[in-house]
Amino acid sequence: MLVLDERLWVKQMKKIGVLTSGGDAPGMNAALRAVVLTACQYGIEVIGFRHGFNGIFQRDFQILTTADVRQIAHIGGTILKSARCKRLPEPGGPQQAAEILHELCIEALLVIGGDGSFRGCVALSQHYRGQLVGLPGTIDNDLDGTDLTIGFATALETALEAIDKIRDTADAFERTFLVEVMGRHTGYLALSAGIAGSAEQIICPEYGEVVDVADIAADIRSYQQQHGACSYIIVLAETMYPAGAATLAQELSVQSGTECRAVVLGHLQRGGSPVGSDRILATKLGAYSVEQLVAGHAHMMMAGEQAGQAVLFPLRLTGAQHKKADPFLLAWQDRILQQH
Ligand code: F6P
Repeated sequence: MLVLDERLWVKQMKKIGVLTSGGDAPGMNAALRAVVLTACQYGIEVIGFRHGFNGIFQRDFQILTTADVRQIAHIGGTILKSARCKRLPEPGGPQQAAEILHELCIEALLVIGGDGSFRGCVALSQHYRGQLVGLPGTIDNDLDGTDLTIGFATALETALEAIDKIRDTADAFERTFLVEVMGRHTGYLALSAGIAGSAEQIICPEYGEVVDVADIAADIRSYQQQHGACSYIIVLAETMYPAGAATLAQELSVQSGTECRAVVLGHLQRGGSPVGSDRILATKLGAYSVEQLVAGHAHMMMAGEQAGQAVLFPLRLTGAQHKKADPFLLAWQDRILQQH
């Protein structure tokens, strides 16, 4: 274990690293822009590692100048590329990564990513003498310590646009549609897209891990008895039905006696130009994280936003509570379902 005064930030900071890791999220580029522009104000050079933590192991990096980032905030994906790194969790991985960072005189590393990337930071912190700072970049919005993650708002808009379009064709054919959205182990995206899209039903982990096909089919039948032949949209969180949305749609068709189709939105939700609120969040957290690390406050912290304020939150705790979707909206949606 390193003791505090062995770490590098006791002297004036000259060079920091940044990388984007895990599932890309719209707004990562806006965060990179803010990091580089802010660092430049402090006279700090920024090294961008490409393909997540792999860029450290492969010494695949570039100096990021203000010219590189000036006009990237509106672009989806990440100019640094992203990846899930296999080497980092392996034995000796964190030590090797730390040695390379020391060799390159990287005094702090900013990691823009989700829970897996932050676990990588925790492992790295055992060996790395610089500051490690996280920025929440994931469409899943599954990190504690921030109200929203960078990318969630855009993914929600994308899912919603798709659901609204599906509603048109579902109405025209009076069909049932199952729309599968991402979110990994949390139903944040499913609940938000489902509520905003007036879905008749939302299936997400917060309502229980088991999908009761007979129960859903009964709900569809009773809804259509009450309202006549009409569209019925079910938003399904990925991972809820391991056999897949298409299989569930088939089973529902048989059991409900109505035509049910499946649409899997998948990686569509990760793409596209970030919406304004994601660009602003990314800019705020990018700038704030650099300011906090210059002040020496940010080691092993994630820069997040709570009630409109930029805050630091311990990186180790970002996945501890298994952040759940809004309990108020969950309960409301459940009551609406009973009311059908
Ligand atoms: O964490 C972001 C995310 O898009 C999840 O919503 C999803 O489960 C996962 O990444 C998909 O990962 P991959 O791109 O490796 O298929």
